[in-house]
Parts: sequence; structure tokens; C-alpha cells
Amino acid sequence: MALDRQPWERNENMQDLAPKRLVIGISGASGVTYGVRLLQLLWNAGVETHLVMSKTAEQTFAYETDLKIAEVRELANVSHAIDDMAAPISSGSFRTAGMIVAPCSMRSMSEIASGVTTTLLTRAADVALKERRRLVLMVRETPLHTGHLRTMTALSEIGAIIAPPVPAFYAKPENLEDMVDHTVGRVLDLFDIDIDIGIVRRWGEDDALKRRPPSLRKDRPLTFCRDLRKDQSNASRKPGKARGQRAIGSARVAMRRC
Ligand SMILES: Cc1cc2nc3c(=O)[nH]c(=O)nc-3n(C[C@H](O)[C@H](O)[C@H](O)COP(=O)(O)O)c2cc1C
Repeated sequence: MALDRQPWERNENMQDLAPKRLVIGISGASGVTYGVRLLQLLWNAGVETHLVMSKTAEQTFAYETDLKIAEVRELANVSHAIDDMAAPISSGSFRTAGMIVAPCSMRSMSEIASGVTTTLLTRAADVALKERRRLVLMVRETPLHTGHLRTMTALSEIGAIIAPPVPAFYAKPENLEDMVDHTVGRVLDLFDIDIDIGIVRRWGEDDALKRRPPSLRKDRPLTFCRDLRKDQSNASRKPGKARGQRAIGSARVAMRRC
């Protein structure tokens, strides 16, 4: 019987056919909160989550949060032991939409890149890659040596998405929670999961972001510019005064704008 498609060709609708089920890995890098927030948001979004946490992640939780490990496990639909290689997520036949490792340590990242996997976390990531499912690694280390960078390139070449948790200042976060939410929200965008509670401030879509600092606005009336030019001439007469110096600064910006 002829096949419409060669067996190795990917079914483009695969993601749609897979159940809304995601594997969340939490490794021992700094930023275990990212994993926690993902679990909370996915729970609210009705996505089934399978959690696997490394041994060092448990240590990192103690250093970085007040959460008990049992409380973290409660946030997932299913929580697997790190050494349970017989867990469903270690098999490609268990369908998922993919996996997020949040945060991803350099150790776990290197294991995933090599394919020599020694824990359920790295095995599940390997499964995501071999099944051509989405694998997002929120790698966390700084600074990075060339070995780290080469490993990231190798991972990107075999289909992983490297998504370091880097804050977006254009979103004007007011606190650490805002920063975490924006970052994990952007990661969920990669799975087309819309948490729809306004935690991602989208460039061009958010009215607040359309506001620009006055120096960049083109719609200011001309009189505003003229006033500032006046300030500048006053200021140039009194160069030594602190107030005059401030006026020079703002007037220069205004002149450029006009
Ligand atoms: C508080 C704390 C913070 C850490 N932060 C990082 C980090 O940001 N990146 C990293 O690669 N390793 C970090 N480590 C070291 C890893 O935990 C260590 O390399 C471990 O072997 C990772 O194993 P895992 O990938 O199985 O969790 C940290 C360790 C601790 C205790």
C-alpha cells in the first residue's frame, strides 16, 4: 500500500493531535520559580502537566524559595521521580505537546545535547527531541564559556529552542513576579498556549506600550519645542548652575525631536 507521506516526514498537524499535555522539568539551576509559575499557569489553562525535578533542584528550592518540595509536586497533575526510567514520559509512545526545562542547568543541558541521559529529566527531553516535539530549554548560567555556547548551538541544530530567562525591560516590570510572568508567558507562546490573563505585555498590542517618553514623541505641539529652546538659551548664559545644566540636557533632547 502506497503511503501519502514517507514515514520520516513529520505530520504538520501532530501538535494538534497530541493531547494538551506538557512535561515540565525543573533542574538545579538558579530560578526554580520559573518552573513553579509554569505549573501554576498551565494548571489554570487546563493543560495536563507531568513534572520531573532533579535532586539538585530540590536543594535549590530550599535556597531560593520557602516552598516545600511536596507543595511543588502538588502543582502538577503527575509528578515523577527523577530516577523512574519506566515513567510514561520516558517513552515516545506517551504523547505530549513537548517539554519545557525551567530552569535548565548546564549539566542537564549538556546531557540532553549528548543524548547520554542518566535521569528521567534528560531522558524525557531526549524523547521530545527524537519525536520531533517542541523542547524549550530555559538555560541559566552566566557568564558562558565557549563549551556552553557550542552545546547550545548543537541543541538548536537538533531542534531544541534555547530560551534563557532574560527579562524584557520594555514590559516595565514592577517587581520580580512581573518579570517571571512575562518570561514564562513568552515561553508558553512557543506552544501556542494562551494563558490570557494579561501577563505578557505585547509590543504594539498594549496601549501602555504605545506611550513613549516625551523625548521620542512626534506629536508634541511646536510651542513646546520653542519653550525648551528658550530654556536652552537661558541655560547657556549660566553654564555653571546645576539648574541650567539640567535645562541644557532636556533642551538638547527637544531640539533633536523638533
Ligand atoms: C543555589 C544554587 C544555584 C545554582 N545555580 C546554577 C545555575 O544558575 N546554573 C547552573 O548551570 N548550575 C547551577 N547550580 C549548580 C547545579 O545545581 C549543579 O550543576 C547540578 O549538578 C545540576 O544538576 P541537575 O541538572 O541534575 O539539576 C546551582 C546550584 C545551587 C545549589
